[in-house]
Amino acid sequence: MSEAPPTISAVDIYWRLLNYVKPYWLVFVVAIIAMLVFAGTETALAAMMKPLLDGSFVERDPHIIKLIPIAFIGLFIVRGIANFITVYGLGWIARNVIRNLRTEMFNKLIALPSRFFDKSTPGQLLAKLLYDVEQVANAATDAIITVIRDSLTIIGLLIWMIYLNGFLSLIILTTVPIIGFLVFKISSRFRRISKTIQQSMGDVSHISSEVIEGHREVKTFGSQEYEKKRFEKVNQQNRHQRMKMLATDAISQPIIQLITVLGLSLVIYLATLPEMLEKITPGSFISFVTAMFMILTPLKRLTKINAKIQRGIAAAQSIFSLLDEKDESDTGTKILDHCQGDIRYKDVSFSYNSTHDKTLDSVSFHAKPGQTIAFVGHSGSGKTTLVSLLARFYSFSEGQIEIDGININELTLSSLRNQIALVNQQVILFNDTIGNNISYGKKNVSNDQIIEAAKAAHAWGFIERLPDGLATTVGQNGVLLSGGQRQRIAIARALLSDAPILILDEATASLDTEAERHIQAAVETLMAQRTTLVIAHRLSTIEKADQIIVMHDGKIIESGTHQQLIAKNQHYAELHRLQFQEKPADTDLSKAT
Ligand SMILES: Nc1ncnc2c1ncn2[C@@H]1O[C@H](COP(=O)(O)OP(=O)(O)OP(=O)(O)O)[C@@H](O)[C@H]1O
Ligand SMILES: [Mg+2]
Repeated sequence: MSEAPPTISAVDIYWRLLNYVKPYWLVFVVAIIAMLVFAGTETALAAMMKPLLDGSFVERDPHIIKLIPIAFIGLFIVRGIANFITVYGLGWIARNVIRNLRTEMFNKLIALPSRFFDKSTPGQLLAKLLYDVEQVANAATDAIITVIRDSLTIIGLLIWMIYLNGFLSLIILTTVPIIGFLVFKISSRFRRISKTIQQSMGDVSHISSEVIEGHREVKTFGSQEYEKKRFEKVNQQNRHQRMKMLATDAISQPIIQLITVLGLSLVIYLATLPEMLEKITPGSFISFVTAMFMILTPLKRLTKINAKIQRGIAAAQSIFSLLDEKDESDTGTKILDHCQGDIRYKDVSFSYNSTHDKTLDSVSFHAKPGQTIAFVGHSGSGKTTLVSLLARFYSFSEGQIEIDGININELTLSSLRNQIALVNQQVILFNDTIGNNISYGKKNVSNDQIIEAAKAAHAWGFIERLPDGLATTVGQNGVLLSGGQRQRIAIARALLSDAPILILDEATASLDTEAERHIQAAVETLMAQRTTLVIAHRLSTIEKADQIIVMHDGKIIESGTHQQLIAKNQHYAELHRLQFQEKPADTDLSKAT
């Protein structure tokens, strides 16, 4: 995205994530209990050192000697079970949260307005859906295990140490604030870097996906070197940020450990002073030192987990910024069943960007039911924009568009769009069978209906010859079909949808005369009995239109029938003439429009 997403505070993020865990609270409680048990076994392990030395070896109590190995085995069985419950339980919650987040993000993507997609790249969005969600879950699980279990372990061991010797424990405790301060400093740095890493991950996937999708363009324009350089740059950036993270991580750990060891050494030194040795039994001393060393591992994990949590927060921020995007506004309440197809634009003005000039400037026209209105004009004059407003792909503030006399803003989006069949400039097919592509978005369609539509769209001829007929998969974006074939599939799709209004944004790509004839015939079938707004490049379509509207810089500069406009001998006549001068036999207006 071009704009930086609004930052959400870390506390808000924790709360929001916690909401996702709420439905699974029972499992969560069980996991926490298991963590408590685990921490208990750790403390018990250190505590057992005391009777082992004082009891079994020093006093040679036969009763205790027998009990110790059994206690050890028992302890490790309990510890193993507690560990399993923790890891499995939290993992189960995490996978559920991931699934829920993904569903929510996917639903969001479906509900977002066109404007959002104009400013985001698929790569960045995919990175959120695939990479960021996993990050969050991993961070959360690890963080919970470490923060709860390891802290509990540390607390348990500390209590044991204080019980054994308060003075020595106090010395250990003095190192804690120093470590705490360091961790705080390091964490803010981690968080900053994490954010950049996520962005650069998005760039990596964005550039790769462009090269994958545009592999033909890359080859024909010989832009391999350019793409390589572009990729190398973001790849390098990604590495650089990763290394920063790694360096911070690698430096911070030994420093924290060193501080801890300084404390430990001091304790050992003090404990071995003669006065101290008198007060402490060998069992207590060994047990104390054991506990001290056992604290090190969870403490190390506790300082390390921060990097992960920061990564998780950055990822969660990226996810929530998507989830917080506003849905397409759908405040209309009126429902249209099957409209007549009377379309009226009243002084409609629109711009994509408030800082830009108007893309459409006071456009008005009227299409009676069943009429065909053709739009012509130079590339960029606003034709596609004009028709896209009818389906409310963008909201406009000035002017009004009415269908059957009802302001389209008062209609629910679904009932408005149900009235419209759209054949776009760029045909998008889904990686599915031809049959499913034709019946796309329509429920309960029989095979016969699909075949009928395919026939009417002059598509049946080539579909029939395919190895699997309607069941043939078209490949991503219909790569296995020719441009003209794809258009006819799109026409069949529009025919089947049986909507009273047709928007036809003809592709400018020239086709061979055979395909051209087929498509022309298919288009004519499609336009019959529908109100059609057609952005036409084919002369035959235009000549038969009830009204031709000539656009220039977002304004209507001329309108009328073909004969009227030719007789008027102005803009349209000029466009017409230009084309025939250039290429007398060509019936494609696209060169001029
Ligand atoms: N999604 C968008 N965001 C911002 N500006 C846009 C967007 N789509 C189009 N524009 C701008 O609006 C203007 C009109 O574009 P539009 O696509 O409506 O032209 P057109 O008449 O359909 O052209 P063509 O014949 O080439 O299809 C252009 O200047 C274009 O740069
Ligand atoms: Mg266009």
